[in-house]
Amino acid sequence: MSDQSHNQPADHPINGLKPLSNGDGFHLPITGNDLNHGGYDHSDAIMTNGHALEETDDDDEEDEVEDDYVAVDHDDLNEYPYWFRRPPVRQPSKLDDLHPFVQVLTQSNVDDCVAVEEAFPEQERCTREKACIAPFAYRLGRCPELCLGLFTLPVLGLDQPKPRPTLVGHVIATRTSTPYVTDRSMELPADWKTARSTVVDGETVGHDEYGSSIAIHSLAVLQEHQGKQVGSTLMKSYIQRIREAAIADRIVIIAHDNLIPFYEGLGFENRGLSKCQFGGGGWTDMALELNTE
Ligand SMILES: CC(C)(COP(=O)(O)OP(=O)(O)OC[C@H]1O[C@@H](n2cnc3c(N)ncnc32)[C@H](O)[C@@H]1OP(=O)(O)O)[C@@H](O)C(=O)NCCC(=O)NCCS
Repeated sequence: MSDQSHNQPADHPINGLKPLSNGDGFHLPITGNDLNHGGYDHSDAIMTNGHALEETDDDDEEDEVEDDYVAVDHDDLNEYPYWFRRPPVRQPSKLDDLHPFVQVLTQSNVDDCVAVEEAFPEQERCTREKACIAPFAYRLGRCPELCLGLFTLPVLGLDQPKPRPTLVGHVIATRTSTPYVTDRSMELPADWKTARSTVVDGETVGHDEYGSSIAIHSLAVLQEHQGKQVGSTLMKSYIQRIREAAIADRIVIIAHDNLIPFYEGLGFENRGLSKCQFGGGGWTDMALELNTE
């Protein structure tokens, strides 16, 4: 069969295909075998770009390779594993210096929280003396699982006794059945020591154990440790814990204008002016929806 095709004129159709018009004298091979063994003469062959096959000799191929050739200094190769294995370069941060860890707060941390609360302007602070705001004892006693602290411990020598960790920042929250923080949710129920829950005008005062929103009433960082990423790290950890535990539909908070970008950076949405009059009002409702996936 291959012998026949070799003898056919250049423009004779083979299997319905006509050779290229500029391929005079070129005989199409029928099979790959013909190319390798059938005595096929390469000398007249042309490529589809019209160049004669004989022009692409070995020298030309070498020229093409040389054009794209990038010299590699093989002496450097031994360095590469080191560069690939190296951990990312990062300066130790002020947060690293604190050797921070987060832990759920309990009633044993009330005094620590009062110290951290000093970070707020006086009218916004929650202290044990103020009857209008639910004290830490109530919130840490009723829903400790919603209250998280970031602590620091000094690096100790082997024989040094372990000191009490210092609370550097806290998140204090309760549950509410409204999708935003309300004044009622921030209050301390008058009968909180005896009653499990107190309802006034149809709304639970303080912690509503069946509420699907977690209302943060205090995020604060000790003044001397502000600006070290403590607040943002603590909030990220808090959000992650609540999300993974799947115990609420959303986290809500009220914020002043200067902190709106801070909360937006953590995933909260601006829900507009809050009705809360706590501390003189002027708050913005922020909400982080947890069931969006
Ligand atoms: C607000 C607060 C919790 C932030 O904690 P922090 O550890 O100081 O904040 P971070 O170091 O994690 O800062 C994170 C970002 O928020 C910004 N930010 C922090 N405090 C801010 C403030 N008061 N005003 C505007 N932006 C602020 C920082 O500029 C930083 O941005 P960057 O990462 O681009 O530099 C802390 O400053 C604080 O306790 N303030 C007093 C109490 C308070 O106002 N609490 C908020 C109640 S809504």
